[in-house]
Amino acid sequence: MAERYHLLIRNATVVDGTRAPRFAADIAVRHDRIARIGRLDDAAADLEIDASGKVAAPGFIDAHTHDDRLMLSAPEMAPKISQGVTTVVAGNCGISLAPMPAGRRPQTVPPLDLLDEDGGWYRFPTFRAYVEELQAKPAATNCALLVGHSSLRVAEMNDLGRPANADEVTRMRERVREALLAGAVGVSTGLYYEPASAASTEEVIEICKPLAEFGGIYCTHMRDEADRVIDSLEETFRIGREVGVPVVISHHKVVGLPNHGRSPETLALITERMKSQSICLDCYPYSASSTILTVSRTAVASKVLVTWSKPHPEFSGMDLDEVANRMGLAKDAAVEKLLPAGAIYFSMDEADVQRILAFEHTMVGSDGLPHDAAPHPRLWGTFPRVLGHYARGLGLFPLETAVYKMTGLTAKNFGLKDRGVLKEGAFADITVFDAGTVDESATFAKPIQAAKGIDTVVVNGQVAWRGGKPGGARAGRVLRRSAC
Ligand code: ZN
Ligand code: CU
Repeated sequence: MAERYHLLIRNATVVDGTRAPRFAADIAVRHDRIARIGRLDDAAADLEIDASGKVAAPGFIDAHTHDDRLMLSAPEMAPKISQGVTTVVAGNCGISLAPMPAGRRPQTVPPLDLLDEDGGWYRFPTFRAYVEELQAKPAATNCALLVGHSSLRVAEMNDLGRPANADEVTRMRERVREALLAGAVGVSTGLYYEPASAASTEEVIEICKPLAEFGGIYCTHMRDEADRVIDSLEETFRIGREVGVPVVISHHKVVGLPNHGRSPETLALITERMKSQSICLDCYPYSASSTILTVSRTAVASKVLVTWSKPHPEFSGMDLDEVANRMGLAKDAAVEKLLPAGAIYFSMDEADVQRILAFEHTMVGSDGLPHDAAPHPRLWGTFPRVLGHYARGLGLFPLETAVYKMTGLTAKNFGLKDRGVLKEGAFADITVFDAGTVDESATFAKPIQAAKGIDTVVVNGQVAWRGGKPGGARAGRVLRRSAC
């Protein structure tokens, strides 16, 4: 009798997420797991998908997101599912939606307003309350969650312009412990940003102490990615050593014209330190960054695009020079009128971006900002751009390496067991795509567009994307870290 499965993906070229060479096979799924990989001519299934001429890879893991709220407010997760992403790491750059006790006003504290600028979504007094809501109303993608240091500071401190005192440190540390117990995989910081820039290295070390006990991970948007990038790397390594946990350098880059070409220096230091401690890094495949709008940040960019503005939504998507012209103001004065607002900054060197992306240990993370009116195209385009533009187009690395950077490597670094690889027994998170056509459609001018070449996306055995539209499944789970 023919073996019967729930889902069969036939005639695929399997790129399994380990960097092993591609091979031809069928993939059979039963419930939420991969049951068989091989020639399964006699098998039958409730749903059969012909993947002739296409690649089947592990579902992509977005190593760096700000999807904390998107999973609740737009659970179909179209910007991510449409790219083949099946798991997102949320809560990055020090900003997490939870925990936030009632009565605080995080929406008035940039960059916390990137998650919510009207005040309704920071409504989880504990991390557990947030996890429970995600479990009760699952999104289309899985998630691994970080608790953000800036959110903790807003929750516990009335003056963000100084290091935390002993009581505040104790309370933040207790909140870290609560988050880890509830299922967070680690802590993130955004020491670059105003709500956390006054924090001392010692403050971060002290509040991160529970990470060691729970096998958590420390992710950081470093204090400085420009002139003092080396000092910031050293600070990050010290935090990792003193807490005794792996560190993730978020969206690694070197910013500002005087620093162009410094990536060989940063990557050499990372390589050297990797011999004695656990260090991971991610990057997005663009030479423009995106965050809140400020005068100081516009000063170091060659070009600035407005991504949103609360008082002036009509300027979303426009060049700041053009906005200043229309307002009849100098650039700095125009910025003041636009606030609170977000922006895209052209401030990196393409050669550095390619060197960092190609670095053996670099994971792919979008850093997409899902609530911006005119978002950076990385929100919808990151993964197809790596596969299309950088791997196929420029030949920066083979397809197998590109897939590894967005699957197996990321699952290993974040301790996501049985994810990120296609093998029998692993969870059935699978992305089928056309390696010949896959690419981003999003552009800086038209950033909200589903990618080309993504055929089918399966999350925990259920179809979440098919034929250019959502498949309806909301099978995402909150993943825990199993330290390996
Ligand atoms: Zn960041
Ligand atoms: Cu970020």
